[in-house]
Amino acid sequence: MGEAGGWYDADIQRVIVSEEQIREKVDELARKVAADYSHVDSVMLVCVLKGAIMFMADFARALGREGCRIEMDFMAVSSYGQRATSSGVVRILKDLDRDIAGRHVVVVEDIIDSGLTLSWLLKYLESRTAASVEVVALLRKPDAIKVQVPVKYVGFDIPTEFVVGYGLDFAERYRELPYIGILNPGVYARA
Ligand code: PRP
Repeated sequence: MGEAGGWYDADIQRVIVSEEQIREKVDELARKVAADYSHVDSVMLVCVLKGAIMFMADFARALGREGCRIEMDFMAVSSYGQRATSSGVVRILKDLDRDIAGRHVVVVEDIIDSGLTLSWLLKYLESRTAASVEVVALLRKPDAIKVQVPVKYVGFDIPTEFVVGYGLDFAERYRELPYIGILNPGVYARA
């Protein structure tokens, strides 16, 4: 069940990361990143739409509070066909607006599942000659990993279950939940 009495609470089997845990973790990650990048003029945050929007918005503000200067850019990508295939081929729906050559890039991801999206994205960003590329991911499903990707900053390792909320969707719904919860299997049976 949920915490705040939202419309969605009946659809959530269990909250696995609460609002408070998210807030504390976002601040903790921001402190680490701000310390690691204290020598650079500004950090280029690259948000991967759409799932990472909530994390991006909170993380960017937490970095600001830590005195870290940032710029924001956004990419939208989509996997070709079956996302479970090993090809990991990704199509760019929206590319970066600005050149990242020579910039210190931090990719902001909501979740690493198979790792295929991120593996492709890291190669892509490196080919655009960024000075450095690191990843901050709020969630990771260690048991679902198909390709190892170097992720320097991870919020929570979670079980391989269908999670929604704080940006993560099921059929475009539940992104607005303030917490991360496991979706009731009855919901996808109805879909
Ligand atoms: C999710 C998430 C990651 C990707 C991770 O995006 O935001 O980008 O899947 O999965 P992977 O590790 O197996 O590649 P999704 O394609 O669901 O799009 P959305 O963010 O727009 O919901």
